[in-house]
Amino acid sequence: MTPVPDRNLALELIRVTETAALAAGPWVGRGDKISADGAAVKAMRSMINTVDMAGIVVIGEGEKDNAPMLHDGEEVGNGLGPKCDVAVDPIDGTSLTASGANGAISVISLAPRGAMFDPSGVFYMDKIVTGPEGGDKIDISAPVKYNLEVVAKAKKRSISDLTVVVLNRPRHDNLIKEIRDAGARVKLIQDGDVAAAIDAVRPSTSVDLLMGIGGTPEGVITAAAMICLGGVIQGVLRPKDRSEKESAIAAGYQLDKIYLTKDLVNSDDVFMAATGITDGELLKGIRYSEYGAISQSLVMRGQSHTVRFVETEHHLK
Ligand code: FBP
Repeated sequence: MTPVPDRNLALELIRVTETAALAAGPWVGRGDKISADGAAVKAMRSMINTVDMAGIVVIGEGEKDNAPMLHDGEEVGNGLGPKCDVAVDPIDGTSLTASGANGAISVISLAPRGAMFDPSGVFYMDKIVTGPEGGDKIDISAPVKYNLEVVAKAKKRSISDLTVVVLNRPRHDNLIKEIRDAGARVKLIQDGDVAAAIDAVRPSTSVDLLMGIGGTPEGVITAAAMICLGGVIQGVLRPKDRSEKESAIAAGYQLDKIYLTKDLVNSDDVFMAATGITDGELLKGIRYSEYGAISQSLVMRGQSHTVRFVETEHHLK
């Protein structure tokens, strides 16, 4: 497989997510997630085409909410570099952005062409994510308590010391009860399970695992992050209705398969960049000053496991 571009690409990718986050910034708290997403997509699309790569969007904007798209199959980059699969989410957390709530980020990841799982057939995926300590012990098909026990043991803590981040949805009522009954704490989030998954894997954060059903595209982007961070994701596709189930089976998706990190992104040649739109545990959001704006980003590389945090002053005037 053609290797992804060299390490200099990291900074170029930051410019892509910075541009999208800066475009979303004026829409924070304005109650209009469609305009926020549209601004971020437009900005990301123009900047992504300056990057030295022959990219194909494998994960673009989802069809949920009829969001404006950087659509699947779109060619991106200037065509001069290596052939890449590209996953973008100009805003993960459009509703968070619209309401000014914490945890919205802009994100992009790259892998060699053919390395990323195509998530287009099934919108939702059941996920469990944790860090390197307990990663080889977890099993998404096992009871919740089992997974909490093995992670607690691997972290040399008790279950009551663990916090599990879960999307706040009615579909998770039983999951939340099982986590609490097992003795662990729950951190409910309204949206944005990519940043939450990274939080679950980074050291010294407030959360130890992510559990529950979220977007499949976000699951693949999370897998790219896990390759960079040494964490683990396991996922099972969860069709939302009978029609999606039937078309997924017809398209060859395996609904009983446990997708491991490498099933979702099958390469270590991964780059990932993210920029905060609103404040979060992972990244600060866009802030404004007398000369312009300040952004905070991270960029990671799978081969070296390098994680860089970058604060940028943008002189907009
Ligand atoms: P958007 O920013 O595209 O709205 O997605 C936010 C998000 O919370 C993802 O982080 C998550 O994977 C997915 O939506 C969950 O879907 P749903 O809101 O349908 O439960």
